[in-house]
Amino acid sequence: MYRILEKDYLNSTVARIVVDAPLVARKAKPGQFIILRAKADSKRIPLTVSAQDPEQGTVTVIYQVVGAGTMELDTLSAGDSLHDFVGPLGKPSDLEGLQKACVVGGGVGCAIAYPIAKALHEQGCAVHSVIGFRNKDLVLLEDEFRAVSDQLRIVTDDGSYGEKGLVTNALESLIQAGNAYDRVIAIGPLPMMKFVSLLTKKHGIPTVVSMNSVMVDGTGMCGGCRLTVGGEIKFACVDGPEFDGHLVDFDEAASRARMYEEFETRARDEACRLLNREED
Ligand SMILES: Cc1cc2nc3c(=O)[nH]c(=O)nc-3n(C[C@H](O)[C@H](O)[C@H](O)COP(=O)(O)OP(=O)(O)OC[C@H]3O[C@@H](n4cnc5c(N)ncnc54)[C@H](O)[C@@H]3O)c2cc1C
Ligand code: FES
Repeated sequence: MYRILEKDYLNSTVARIVVDAPLVARKAKPGQFIILRAKADSKRIPLTVSAQDPEQGTVTVIYQVVGAGTMELDTLSAGDSLHDFVGPLGKPSDLEGLQKACVVGGGVGCAIAYPIAKALHEQGCAVHSVIGFRNKDLVLLEDEFRAVSDQLRIVTDDGSYGEKGLVTNALESLIQAGNAYDRVIAIGPLPMMKFVSLLTKKHGIPTVVSMNSVMVDGTGMCGGCRLTVGGEIKFACVDGPEFDGHLVDFDEAASRARMYEEFETRARDEACRLLNREED
């Protein structure tokens, strides 16, 4: 069992938990993830390692409540325990030799992008960050990004905070201003990563995206996270989750993500009913 030591909310739907998991804490590197189960019969949920403290033996993960699995996870509080917490999984980010990079995060993708921005800053790379949200209420990790970025641009779809627009608008203006990036790292919803990759391809900037494909076992056995990269079949859990954004088949990835929509909606409705009954 893995005890939750701390829990706080970053906005109305995003929570951060610090978990007692010494083995994962000792080994995890930026870009890697864990798969947890809240209870013995719960759904497996892959989440990126947001921070780790090898001395304290703790691992921090940030999750957005989006469906049945994360709703159930969110019923746990500090002091409760997770049934399992397996990792670190996936390949660490390859950040070697980067001198100037732009980290682009969209929504909860910022939780996945932040440890990468931090690692780049710590290795002396100049970091520009562009973080985007639908509106002011959904902004998260602003102070954390500011602390590790040489330049930070915040955008919201409706202009209620920062600049009005999409992350691609801010990124394009940074490129037009003459910033020569060794790499752009984009993490967020599939359409966002697709359009960032199309933009950077036009400008010839190497780009990495993190593919949050639906995962089950996380070990390359089930085939759930299959995607096509440069015409080849890859598995996000063992070959990724980071891939060359110019080679990913985003349209296929989007259509595979839609395959489970009906099941997810049913599971979410059922979880809402169960949680409401428990509250009555
Ligand atoms: C490598 C990786 C790292 C991730 N890191 C984070 C993170 O740090 N923070 C965060 O909030 N989310 C992260 N996710 C996404 C997170 O795993 C899903 O939001 C979660 O599993 C949704 O489960 P649910 O039952 O609440 O929602 P559901 O209603 O089942 O699904 C909602 C949406 O979540 C996605 N999803 C559902 N099941 C899975 C699954 N087993 N694997 C992956 N995606 C799924 C699908 O896009 C789906 O449409 C990550 C996913 C992957 C693959
Ligand atoms: S999660 Fe099963 S193959 Fe990747």
